[in-house]
Amino acid sequence: MRTQVGIVGGGPAGLVLSHLLHLRGIESVVIELRGREELESEIRAGVLEQGTVDLLNAAGVGDRMRKEGAVHHGVNLQFDGRRERIDFEDLTGRAITVYGQHEVVKDLIQARLDAGGHILFETAATGLSDLDSEEPKIHFRRDAKLEGGKISFGEDPEEEELVCDHVVGCDGFFGVSRKAIPDGVRREYTRTYPFGWFGILVEGPPSTEELIYNLHERGFALVSTRSPEIQRLYFQCDPEDEVANWPDERIWEEMHARLDTGDWTLREGGIIQKNIVQMRSFVTEPMQYGRLFLAGDAAHIVPPTGAKGMNLALADVRVLARGLADFHESGGTDLLERYTELCLGRVWKASRFSWWMTSMLHRFEEDNAFQHRVQVAELDYVTSSRAAATTLAENYVGLPMDPAFKIPGEDQEQAAH
Ligand code: PHB
Repeated sequence: MRTQVGIVGGGPAGLVLSHLLHLRGIESVVIELRGREELESEIRAGVLEQGTVDLLNAAGVGDRMRKEGAVHHGVNLQFDGRRERIDFEDLTGRAITVYGQHEVVKDLIQARLDAGGHILFETAATGLSDLDSEEPKIHFRRDAKLEGGKISFGEDPEEEELVCDHVVGCDGFFGVSRKAIPDGVRREYTRTYPFGWFGILVEGPPSTEELIYNLHERGFALVSTRSPEIQRLYFQCDPEDEVANWPDERIWEEMHARLDTGDWTLREGGIIQKNIVQMRSFVTEPMQYGRLFLAGDAAHIVPPTGAKGMNLALADVRVLARGLADFHESGGTDLLERYTELCLGRVWKASRFSWWMTSMLHRFEEDNAFQHRVQVAELDYVTSSRAAATTLAENYVGLPMDPAFKIPGEDQEQAAH
């Protein structure tokens, strides 16, 4: 098999890249370990920066997002028994859209298949080779299953080979792509946090119009939403904790203890899903090696507190789409050569922002009353100083994108907002 761009991983990064390349007449094949249904139902993040919304609209995959996504013009920070709003609209003139990542994935898979795109589901990339040649290869096996973190194969699937002009690794933190960059070349920067997030999906109406990020002596809590009927809530937990330790009543008791104020009570509903999310900051440098490029979680992980994960992944593929288009249209390699440098500024700023939000809003084991008072003072400052509120707001709605990486049609979309 041969293609121009071989893409490992069919999450938002891989699918958006495949679609952007298609719009420029470049052929790609996406290799994805999971099946379509699994991919379309996995509950992940839900906040889209305005730049991400503009990109999806300009790429022609924004119809359902525009109808079903909820535009939020601010978020709430709650601490010390009070709730203060950060007004994005007033501070930055921009907004965010709450629309689940799995909904974005559904829209993208449909668009790729409608356009005759190639996605190999239930197919495992087993390795990459010849990355420093002009014919890098992805080795893969079909009929693969992922269970309990282990990959198994059906009866006798042969190893096959996809020969490409370039390979893009969008296969997340645990994928094969990053590890294909030799140890002597690859540098990794990590911070693990001593807590996780316990996430629940709740059937019922929302408790608030906008998200609430809450600092409490018992730990962080977040009130988010998915739709008028489905709510998404999180609370800080022990990273080693298990879902089985948390029957519904215990969850509600904990959420009320952290969130309720004198005049406001969290609305309960039927809990339809529970999961625990690990918290990690991680950056790989460089994000490329020979003709391999890494995008999204394969190259960097942010804790979810800043709501940056998917946005950062799509910012990477904007740069790649433009670089790959230059290569195929005119043989230009300048943008591809500078890919790491062009992405890392944004990656590290988003890493800083996510780390800062996490540090300001969580309870750390070693913390004492002094530390808690400092966090409350910081939140008081951030919500009372226009300068401080603006630094939060402009990072949250997304730092400006270099106009060179906007895709055709995007400026019109922005003007229409
Ligand atoms: C979510 O709705 O899943 C969500 C919202 C905001 C965050 C993280 C997750 O910071």
